[in-house]
Amino acid sequence: MIPVNEPLFIGNEKKYLNDCIDSGWVSSEGKYVKEFEDALSSYYNMKYAVSVTNGSVALELAIESLEFNPGDEIILPSFTIISCLSPILRNNLKPVFVDQDISTWNMDVNQIEKLITPKTKAIMVVHIYGLPVEMDKIIFLSKKYKLKIIEDTAEVQGQTYKNKLCGSFGDVTTLSFYPNKHITTGEGGMVLTNNEDIYNKLCSLRNLCFNKERRFKHYELGYNARMSNIQAAVGLAQFENISIFIKRKREIGHKYLELFKNLKGVQLPTARTDYAENIFWVFGIILHENLKPFYENIINQINLEGIGTRPFFFPLHQQPVLKKYNLFDENLKLPNSELMSDLGFYIPSGLSLKEEEIIKVSEVVIKVVNKYNQNFEV
Ligand SMILES: Cc1ncc(COP(=O)(O)O)c(C=O)c1O
Repeated sequence: MIPVNEPLFIGNEKKYLNDCIDSGWVSSEGKYVKEFEDALSSYYNMKYAVSVTNGSVALELAIESLEFNPGDEIILPSFTIISCLSPILRNNLKPVFVDQDISTWNMDVNQIEKLITPKTKAIMVVHIYGLPVEMDKIIFLSKKYKLKIIEDTAEVQGQTYKNKLCGSFGDVTTLSFYPNKHITTGEGGMVLTNNEDIYNKLCSLRNLCFNKERRFKHYELGYNARMSNIQAAVGLAQFENISIFIKRKREIGHKYLELFKNLKGVQLPTARTDYAENIFWVFGIILHENLKPFYENIINQINLEGIGTRPFFFPLHQQPVLKKYNLFDENLKLPNSELMSDLGFYIPSGLSLKEEEIIKVSEVVIKVVNKYNQNFEV
């Protein structure tokens, strides 16, 4: 099976890990945690970086650190992972969903302003699959309505918007280092901010809200969300090669675009916009609506030929778990998010993917899709 993702370890990972073992420093107090945080805060040009256990927890801490009031509204894309929604619901906030732009696969920034009410307090920007969200519009709205920006940069580490790094726009920014991301720590995440108060709050939340007055006495509840020295050692070594990884991701993306250029019945990722070059975190494919009845068959047949796939996200506004919160009209329709979820999937594009595997994947996908294309004028 060619897996959808496989990380690549070509740098100092073993050396730094050995150092952790040899020195006995394996907990969050080891030196690599600070070194990894410093490396990322300077890369993103953000004053503070707080490493945590994963990208989902990074979002939990990010939302809590902004100290919203119950009932405040957060605007976010429907087409994203549940990790974006969970902290909103857990903090008794109201999610307000935006549909996607069908060409960039990102939140449609032109639909945001009409959703803003006096209760809106933040926009959660989630850069999806490889192109950045159109940040100019987000910045304009955040200034006009005094909204915070929460920037989830898990999927586009190293990507830029108009030559400025994604991740450097948020009041708080979150990263994930799960092995399918551009750099990995096994499990891991980070929160970035320029605001000292937010930083202090994040540090406190990450470390069980211990206080200086008396250890083990607590005025607030926090989490143990500390990253270990072992994770940070791997993260630092991975980060040293981030530009190689980004280049490779782009090469894989362009290679697939070339191989699929004559394939009918599919929508492929947009290679570039006037503000960014796609970084192809994953290589997504959206089937033509005519192929909808065969979505499962197509995926199954690709898998049977030894090629791993993943379906696209399931839209948040249709998540069964939302029902019990009774927060909005259950008949809400966000057609592009629904279409992407119904017809989209992605194929192997991990950093360890070899040239012959790219060819093999494309041959299988072309064969299977064409088999169903025969029935239609697509
Ligand atoms: C956009 C986005 N945010 C957050 C996460 C969660 O990160 P983690 O898996 O590290 O919890 C992911 C995971 O893939 C993601 O794609």
